[in-house]
Amino acid sequence: MNSPGSATTITAPEQVFDWLDSEAAKRAEAGLVRRLRPRGSETEQLDLAGNDYLGLARDKRVAGAAAAAALRWGAGSTGSRLVTGSTELHAELEHELARFCGAPAALVFSSGFTANLGAVTALSGAESAIVTDKYIHASLIEGCRLSRADVAAVAHSDPDAVAHALATRRKQRALVVTDSVFSVDGDLAPLGELSRVCRQHGVALLVDDAHGFGVLGDGGRGAVAAAGLAGEPDVVTTLTLSKSLGAQGGAVLGPRRVIRHLVDTARSFIFDTALAPSSAAAALAALGVLRDEPELPGRVLTAASELSSRLAAAGLSTSIPEAAVVSVRAPSPEEAVTWAARCAEHGVRVGCFRPPSVPDGVSRLRLTARADLTEADLDRAVRVIVDSAPEGARA
Ligand SMILES: Cc1ncc(COP(=O)(O)O)c(C=O)c1O
Repeated sequence: MNSPGSATTITAPEQVFDWLDSEAAKRAEAGLVRRLRPRGSETEQLDLAGNDYLGLARDKRVAGAAAAAALRWGAGSTGSRLVTGSTELHAELEHELARFCGAPAALVFSSGFTANLGAVTALSGAESAIVTDKYIHASLIEGCRLSRADVAAVAHSDPDAVAHALATRRKQRALVVTDSVFSVDGDLAPLGELSRVCRQHGVALLVDDAHGFGVLGDGGRGAVAAAGLAGEPDVVTTLTLSKSLGAQGGAVLGPRRVIRHLVDTARSFIFDTALAPSSAAAALAALGVLRDEPELPGRVLTAASELSSRLAAAGLSTSIPEAAVVSVRAPSPEEAVTWAARCAEHGVRVGCFRPPSVPDGVSRLRLTARADLTEADLDRAVRVIVDSAPEGARA
């Protein structure tokens, strides 16, 4: 504590957070203010902003399973997984996820974020090097920061850059970390090549398949399965249950000894209340739907490519989708916000990505395709997005 006359003065309690106002002013100046827009349960708006790729979040089989589980098991899980939070539902979900994706074992977390934090930190540490693609998801970046490992973030989708970083690392043990489908532009990582590089250097590969699971691979088994890497002894996959499965939660899939290690050491698993039983039941039911309706992932891909090609034909600068995500470049953060707001006024909700959510600093509208989009939905979406576009958005 400062005494009177010392170099620093004591700030009054009501001024302690004054610095937040100047930070807020800087964000406003840069067009980076974010607003929460609570939605009602019923809406006429067409949703191209959420991640409910298979349209299962409100499916009666999925939502009904969640409701039934809440009544049977309770609204919350009552504790962490290692105390009272593990129910038979969690065990069944882990078994079914591993079986579906072709992995030896799985471990369910309370979110994809905590799954990534747990997997990256537990599989690295001060004695490790980590090599990541520089566009990985924020949750993986946080894992790297917490890991105390030597971290090298290399050029996007560049196996040679990964190989160089591995060849010049100073720690023997290493982990290569990538998204399978990058969340901003929806492009696919070169998983086969990354795995080859990892094997040349004798290190593990961790793939976040949040946007690939349910959309890519045979019947939606994911990008890791599509690359022929499911069940490999040196590959670990992380998932979220909140996108294709329309539920909530996350998971890590991999060799049994990896899963055992996470149970004993992953702090975001050990010190976190377990996933709610309703979410576990919803994810299990959604997995059942995916197994029964293997055509759903193909519909997502068709809708994404239809959206992208029609917007490009209208002169907008769109990404070429390799999964459900389509991005459309905006001239500036401010114009991205106004563009998204204009789309919403005309009944189409789109995502708006601005710094710091975009690694290259380019603001975009971010659209997500769903299996349940109709031809009329696509017509409406394209018309509204094109008609609302700012002048500078045309390529
Ligand atoms: C690539 C990726 N990984 C992880 C997550 C985090 O998953 P969750 O929302 O379940 O925490 C997300 C998104 O939300 C994501 O896009």
